Amino acid sequence: MAQTLAIQDYALLEDAECEARIQAAKAKLGDEVVILGHHYQRDEVFRHADFTGDSLKLSRQAAGSKAKYIVFCGVHFMAEVADILSRPEQISILPDLAAGCSMADMADLVKVEQCWRELGQILDVEATVTPVTYINSAADLKAFCGRHGGIVCTSSNAAQILEWAWARRDKVLFFPDQHLGRNTAYRMGIALSEMVVWQPGKPLGGLTREKILNAKLLLWQGHCSVHQMFRPEHVDQFLARYPETQVISHPECAFEVCQKSHYIGSTETILKTVRSAPSGSRWLVGTELNLVNRLRKEMKPKGVDVHFMSPMVCMCSTMFRIDPQHLAWVLENLVAGNVVNRILVPEESAHLARLALDRMLDLA
Ligand code: 13P
Ligand code: SF4
Repeated sequence: MAQTLAIQDYALLEDAECEARIQAAKAKLGDEVVILGHHYQRDEVFRHADFTGDSLKLSRQAAGSKAKYIVFCGVHFMAEVADILSRPEQISILPDLAAGCSMADMADLVKVEQCWRELGQILDVEATVTPVTYINSAADLKAFCGRHGGIVCTSSNAAQILEWAWARRDKVLFFPDQHLGRNTAYRMGIALSEMVVWQPGKPLGGLTREKILNAKLLLWQGHCSVHQMFRPEHVDQFLARYPETQVISHPECAFEVCQKSHYIGSTETILKTVRSAPSGSRWLVGTELNLVNRLRKEMKPKGVDVHFMSPMVCMCSTMFRIDPQHLAWVLENLVAGNVVNRILVPEESAHLARLALDRMLDLA
């Protein structure tokens, strides 16, 4: 193995130089490498992706990939899913290990197991509650779902997954994103009065026995720090100026924002919907800034006017850590025969997490 190239030597490279070096490294690696890019990636990284998509599409891509190296330009949980779903000889790489997801960090195994134990004091938890984890979660939480008859969902299949879960058991424990759970269940006809919020760290999640027994959906108190910045008043203010606007939001936005939206969907759905809009239409989009900026540029020549929902800069700062310098660094190391920043999920978690992921993938 050659000497590992150090990230420090890349930190001060200009983006233009990285661009040329990324292209050269990709050309040398050929079919050995596939680069997956989430829609929130900045342009300088996104343009190098062989496949782009939302979490569901990219996890399918990772599962079906033949490449030896899967370089995930996304966040940590996405690279973990790629490792879990790919073959053992394939290697999943996250260009910057600090690219986490703040929402995923809002639920951890210790707290979820504590919740499960406390629920077990009130009801026959294994027979009554299906745990459902949003894909934005650590691998050991997916494994928890695998172990307890649960499943994984993404923002594009959450309704189908909740239907699956309720067909098996009366109640669902949904983590870590309360908004995705609430917005999805409400649209399925579940009343807000049938949903409760479990506050981790409080005895019985801050709930009473009666509230838990009466609930159909227990929502973990987690959220996305990016999507919580979109507020219903942003929609109101925009519609007051341009009443004909179509509003489209990601389901990680607050309930009040989704209630004011004409469409709700994953990043891929947002792109598909706006791309098929007629010329002359105007759109207010409630999701991360990089996606919206790219979409605005793409649609402008087609006569479709795209606006960002918030007056603040709502960027996924962790996704932003994947920069051209880190991408050049991991690729040139692969050319030199070194693997850096491998994401390897321990097999004892991986096989149970795979069970929960496969339950989801099989449903489609
Ligand atoms: P999508 O699956 O819709 O791309 O969402 C992923 C995500 O993290 C949104 O914040
Ligand atoms: Fe996580 Fe929010 Fe970033 Fe999505 S936008 S990766 S949920 S922090």
